[in-house]
Amino acid sequence: MKSLISIGDFSKEEILHILEVAKEFEKNRVQKILEGKVIASLFFEPSTRTRLSFETAVNRLGAKVIGFSDASNTSVSKGETLKDTIRMVTNYVDMIIMRHPLEGSSRYASEVATVPVVNAGDGANQHPSQTLLDLYSIMQTQGHLDGITINMVGDLKYGRTTHSLLQAMSHFNAKFIFTAPEELRMPQEYKDFLDSKGIEYIETTSLDDHLRDCDILYMTRVQQERFTDPMEYEKVKDCYRLEASMLDGVRDNMKILHPLPRVNEIDQDVDDTKYAYYFKQAENGLYVRMAIISYLLGYR
Ligand code: CP
Repeated sequence: MKSLISIGDFSKEEILHILEVAKEFEKNRVQKILEGKVIASLFFEPSTRTRLSFETAVNRLGAKVIGFSDASNTSVSKGETLKDTIRMVTNYVDMIIMRHPLEGSSRYASEVATVPVVNAGDGANQHPSQTLLDLYSIMQTQGHLDGITINMVGDLKYGRTTHSLLQAMSHFNAKFIFTAPEELRMPQEYKDFLDSKGIEYIETTSLDDHLRDCDILYMTRVQQERFTDPMEYEKVKDCYRLEASMLDGVRDNMKILHPLPRVNEIDQDVDDTKYAYYFKQAENGLYVRMAIISYLLGYR
């Protein structure tokens, strides 16, 4: 039994396998290979894309979904622990997909559960299914994953998608540019990880510095929900705003990704440029999540 808690749980070969299977699901979007299975979707934190694309994936694979999108309607509000919740749900289903605000909660759930667990985001830690759809989107737009220069912009401190993506891209000779205000720089542990692998990165606070030096511009939202001090959020919330007029001279192959939701870090005038790929990226989540579910249940 295998779970997906951190992107490090999948080898390079498994990552490439998921991307291949996702390509097949994109071509043929309904494959009822999981009829009779039941999958729990437990969202202790808000979500639009991740929850809806996972639940659509379950339906398109022929399985059924149970779960909740608001834990206040569950016995958690009466004081039930995460451990007891998982012990109960694991008896009802074949897989658990879980988002939770606490870092490490998905790993903990996987230790209690007797079915595979998929981490749909745990605090500021990891979001591995997002990473796989990001890799799929990079592959679709660049034709390959090797030697890509990726400029991560915004909240690199709390942005769990950047942490997972950095780890995954380390398999593929990536180069990194980290564009963030001082307060939201990439945490040292991730830079130590890159150092240990001999992978190059540079850091800057200016969005304009390296816009023209990257293949992928990975924009992120400042994660308001992770700040304990609202004044600290106010200081950095508008740190970057990408506008179409700033894209002159960027690489022809450059594509803009964003895990979404966006707030104001990408102006809507960017949406109509040939560089914007974030809505297609979100669509790709469906095919990749179909591939993750079927792989973990031993079907593809
Ligand atoms: N990218 C992402 O995780 O979006 P949601 O929070 O809407 O699921």
